[in-house]
Amino acid sequence: MTNLLFLVGSLRQGSLNQRLANVARAELPEGYQATGFDLGSLPLYNSDFDGENSPESVVAFRAALHAADGVFIFSPEYNYGIPGVVKNAIDWASRPMMPRHAMVGKPMNVIVSTMSPTNGIRALNDIKRTWAAVGGVPVNTFDFVLQSAQTRFVEVDGVETLDVPALNGLRMAINHLDRIINSGAPAVALANWDAFIASLK
Ligand SMILES: Cc1cc2nc3c(=O)[nH]c(=O)nc-3n(C[C@H](O)[C@H](O)[C@H](O)COP(=O)(O)O)c2cc1C
Repeated sequence: MTNLLFLVGSLRQGSLNQRLANVARAELPEGYQATGFDLGSLPLYNSDFDGENSPESVVAFRAALHAADGVFIFSPEYNYGIPGVVKNAIDWASRPMMPRHAMVGKPMNVIVSTMSPTNGIRALNDIKRTWAAVGGVPVNTFDFVLQSAQTRFVEVDGVETLDVPALNGLRMAINHLDRIINSGAPAVALANWDAFIASLK
């Protein structure tokens, strides 16, 4: 079984990104399962508490990341960039840095859902760039922003899903995450990280 960790970058009730995560869960191929983690349970990052003495929720978050074969982030764009909720989670996960933190070699894809008909790509790029900067493995072969997201959900047989073009985008995003999980990229990223850490000594 391939385990995905689903992270939602909006904490509000009725979040479009949470609704998209629900649709994505139903679209996962056979052999996949998803678990969620509430990013709202994490306190604001404080480097006084990023080692042995980390808060319980942070320890649980790092354990969930370690246990996952891949991560799927569903996030809004805030003020042309990465929402604080997502950045805060990445900052906690990036410590302790040595020998390997929980994102090293970890495949990740992100979809940004926005009410805007034009925006969203900046947050998507920020999240992928940051994930790569900490030694993770973002999907770099396919970008998908769900624009005008409030108009893209439909009901089929009483179950919420997406209109056809949006559903195709979601399926492609899942497919590219699956591909990178099953590629050699995670092993290369782990080896690169280990060489980087060794070079610091
Ligand atoms: C503080 C704030 C900043 C926002 N900035 C952007 C932005 O830069 N680009 C954008 O596309 N949408 C922006 N929006 C609108 C969000 O795309 C919209 O609120 C979206 O529905 C949020 O996702 P959610 O439904 O999962 O909460 C912003 C919303 C908030 C609350």
